[in-house]
Amino acid sequence: MRLIPELNSEAHVLIAGASRGIGLALCAALLARDDVAQVWAVARAASTSPELAALAAQYGDRLKPVDCDARNEQSLEALVSDDLAGCEHLHLVISALGILHQDGAKAEKGLAQLTLASLQASFATNTFAPILLLKHLLPLLRKHPATFAALSARVGSIGDNRLGGWYSYRASKAALNQLLHTASIELKRLNPASTVLSIHPGTTDTELSRPFQGNVPDGQLFEPAFSADRILEVVGAHGPADSGTFWDWNDKPIVW
Ligand SMILES: NC(=O)c1ccc[n+]([C@@H]2O[C@H](COP(=O)([O-])OP(=O)(O)OC[C@H]3O[C@@H](n4cnc5c(N)ncnc54)[C@H](OP(=O)(O)O)[C@@H]3O)[C@@H](O)[C@H]2O)c1
Repeated sequence: MRLIPELNSEAHVLIAGASRGIGLALCAALLARDDVAQVWAVARAASTSPELAALAAQYGDRLKPVDCDARNEQSLEALVSDDLAGCEHLHLVISALGILHQDGAKAEKGLAQLTLASLQASFATNTFAPILLLKHLLPLLRKHPATFAALSARVGSIGDNRLGGWYSYRASKAALNQLLHTASIELKRLNPASTVLSIHPGTTDTELSRPFQGNVPDGQLFEPAFSADRILEVVGAHGPADSGTFWDWNDKPIVW
């Protein structure tokens, strides 16, 4: 299967949130493909991630770990002007950034646990960082087929919300979905060969989900490598005609 629809050349790819979890597994899956020329692996601690170092030892210059805090626009400017200098086009960008209980975010059970600080922390990483990443990478997405996919979450769906709770996380992902849908309309005008997707990776065994895995039914907690493969399948299945849509790991559409 092609990495993204209509792409006939080797791909330049950027993964944000690449130092561990699903983003790291995406880097490994992409580097194992012979149609991927270059992977930029972005995270705040990319250069000190032992797992990324192991991939770099295996794949050499095809992997470029880059330290960047995607909540910080100066850091994003440096990513484009310094680390990506010489890169003319990115065919695929996947934002795998996200927090649920880290960096000041809280997985609230009820309103009594809600604080301005946890709302702001969740929105800063889950909502603002991915859309600012897209803003800064836009010059590299304007010519050829280009897909920008962000890992959202099914719990960000308003139509699917029957359990409540997780106010900050749910709202931050719902707002991310709105921003991505809005961007898909603008990108369609700038580059008719562009695609913007929101993807739910499925519940996956990572640092983000670890405190909440007790409630996951048997067989429904995925290994990061499985999720990464499913995400790449979904990305490869949807081109410009589907831009601005929301999919799960099994390629089923999710209601907003
Ligand atoms: N795991 C699940 O069950 C699950 C379910 C549904 C949706 N998701 C979504 O899938 C995505 C990946 O989650 P995961 O489970 O793989 O999480 P994870 O293991 O905690 O990894 C998150 C990644 O994001 C990076 N990151 C966090 N803040 C950043 C920032 N400000 N700038 C740059 N990088 C940053 C982290 O690296 P540094 O700390 O080095 O920056 C790390 O590489 C998230 O969007 C999450 O909401 C996950």
